[in-house]
Amino acid sequence: MLKDKINTDNLPNHLAIIMDGNGRWAKQKGFLRALGHESGSKSVKKIIKECSDLGIGFLTLYAFSTENWNRPKLEVDTLMKVLINSLKKELPTLLENNIRMNAIGNLEKLPKNAQKELQDVINKTKDNTKMTLTLALSYGSREEIVNLVKIISEKVKNNIISIDTIDDSIINEHLYTHNLPDVDLLIRTSGEHRISNFLLWQIAYAELYFTDVLWPDFKQKDLHEAIISYQKRERRFGKTSEQIK
Ligand code: IPE
Ligand code: IPE
Ligand code: MG
Repeated sequence: MLKDKINTDNLPNHLAIIMDGNGRWAKQKGFLRALGHESGSKSVKKIIKECSDLGIGFLTLYAFSTENWNRPKLEVDTLMKVLINSLKKELPTLLENNIRMNAIGNLEKLPKNAQKELQDVINKTKDNTKMTLTLALSYGSREEIVNLVKIISEKVKNNIISIDTIDDSIINEHLYTHNLPDVDLLIRTSGEHRISNFLLWQIAYAELYFTDVLWPDFKQKDLHEAIISYQKRERRFGKTSEQIK
């Protein structure tokens, strides 16, 4: 079995996924896009459980981008409904598996009932320790960076921090992801080879993995394949191969 080939001592500590292809999956089958999102939420469930079982520490899922607000209202409404239903349905799974829920993005833009549901799951899972599941919702990396530039500028203006002390760690502290480590492995499904405004700072040294599989078809074995590919790579961080060995 593919899973047996995974080295559990070399798992990506932080796995991030751009879950793409719900619409095309539905279209191929002659269904409405809404059904693609519905089906995509089943993949979410499976992959969360599998990541937690494998022992991955941090899983971050791109669920809705700042740019996705520009989709037709009907589709945005559907996505919000799918989100609310999934949050309600998945709470027991998160509790059973000791998974903590976290969220990043401009959450205030979400409909009030989605915010409430999300906050409820975050509160009820806050003491869980096995895996941190982060949902990127109304998330845009550029917006995140613009925000932090404003906050840091304000602090400099008010003499709370001096310009000379601004470094990587100060930037990290002001990102939505301040409580998360850097991304080790980024997966994008559906054959698109782009980042679409996701975690631009945080993926500086991530390994990138692209697959043609559409998100609703993404199964445990596809995750295993991605992890095995990750484990075959040599992460050099600028050094030479000899230095790593
Ligand atoms: C991913 O699937 C879900 C979101 C972006 C919210 P898409 O809806 O983008 O599916 P495609 O890319 O149109 O197939
Ligand atoms: C990226 O997918 C956003 C999410 C998966 C939530 P999109 O389907 O919105 O990306 P583009 O527009 O094709 O780049
Ligand atoms: Mg898409």
